[in-house]
Amino acid sequence: MTKLASFDPEIYKSIQSETERLETTIELIPSENLVSPTVLEALGSVMTVKYAEGYPGKRYYGGCEFVDQAEELARERLKQIFKAEHVNVQPHSGSQANMAVYFSILKPGDAILGMDLKHGGHLTHGSPVNFTGQLYNVAFYGVDPETERIDFDLVKQIAHQHKPKLIVTGASAYARDIDFKQFRTIADEVGALLMADIAHPAGLVAKGLHSDPVPHCHFVTSTTHKTLRGPRGGIAMCKQEFAKALDKIVFPGIQGGPLMHVIAAKAVAFKEVLQPEFKTYAEQIVKNCRTLAKSLSESSFRIVTGGTDTHLFLIDLTEKGITGKEAEDALGRAGITVNKNTIPRETRSPFITSGIRLGTPCVTTRGMKEKEMQQIAQWIADTLKDINNTQRQSSIQSEVRKLCQRFPFYS
Ligand SMILES: Cc1ncc(COP(=O)(O)O)c(C=O)c1O
Repeated sequence: MTKLASFDPEIYKSIQSETERLETTIELIPSENLVSPTVLEALGSVMTVKYAEGYPGKRYYGGCEFVDQAEELARERLKQIFKAEHVNVQPHSGSQANMAVYFSILKPGDAILGMDLKHGGHLTHGSPVNFTGQLYNVAFYGVDPETERIDFDLVKQIAHQHKPKLIVTGASAYARDIDFKQFRTIADEVGALLMADIAHPAGLVAKGLHSDPVPHCHFVTSTTHKTLRGPRGGIAMCKQEFAKALDKIVFPGIQGGPLMHVIAAKAVAFKEVLQPEFKTYAEQIVKNCRTLAKSLSESSFRIVTGGTDTHLFLIDLTEKGITGKEAEDALGRAGITVNKNTIPRETRSPFITSGIRLGTPCVTTRGMKEKEMQQIAQWIADTLKDINNTQRQSSIQSEVRKLCQRFPFYS
């Protein structure tokens, strides 16, 4: 019995149950990934003990020589991955990485331009319920109603009207590649700075499978726990001229002591990204995603934008007469985890929605390939054909368990 199991059986049990859930269900939430045991080892290490306010070589505490090594390694590896001029690995989350960028260049009331949440943007890109919507004068761009791709004419038009100090690009629910160069041209026309939030496709960007924002953007932020397959956390990168301001905002501006165990685990994940095998992994994520989307489209589901270039896509369920929430619940009963999601021109609330968002980082980490994607698409179609058929859902669930047993990860 482990020490945890004997001291705190309740928490031990919840961890065991979560491990079992991950092992026995198909995880299609695109913002999650299964981290390697190596990353977990660093995450669960004594590095969590250390207070290390400041940066390597310039800390407010003694005894930082070894955490300094870890943070230096994380910084160097991250620079190498993205060829960034300056990086900060301390943001506790993607939201805090974004906050750091905003606070380093904007004042309350300044104008910003971000992607509408309903069209795929993130809360921290200006939503009224987020600090960004409350502090800044926000205008939104979105997708073209026909193509459902970013409408650059609209971006340009709104940028000229609104005169933002910062344009934010990147998204949470957008399946297509993003033309960062075109964003930069517009930013230059109106004298704005440009930030790309690549929280979602970062692992694909790292291996050249998605357009690279780094040459075009003044700032690039990301989470580390999605396609980058690291621990939960954030990173911020920028051109050298903004380095001092950015670092000063991360600490002491908005955070206290860095989470050194998370930074050590970020360094391990970055080392994994730098391996040639990670390219094969990233390529397989995209192949799997395309196969899943194509198979569902062949089963008469409408895929928003007609397909995907990335690790995720959205299904519009309107014609099926079911809501995103109903689909999420029914698929959950069948052992397939997805999340309900708003779609462009959404008419329902974010708690109900007309769509679901699917992604392939987790199933690809488990080693599943195109053949398994076709099978999963079939189960999704069978489940959504009749969301009240709980008998069918439980028989699919046992098939799902059998498939998962063939692709164990933590057990
Ligand atoms: C585009 C984008 N930015 C930022 C975030 C926020 O990351 P976190 O949940 O770590 O704050 C997310 C999270 O899903 C995201 O999709």
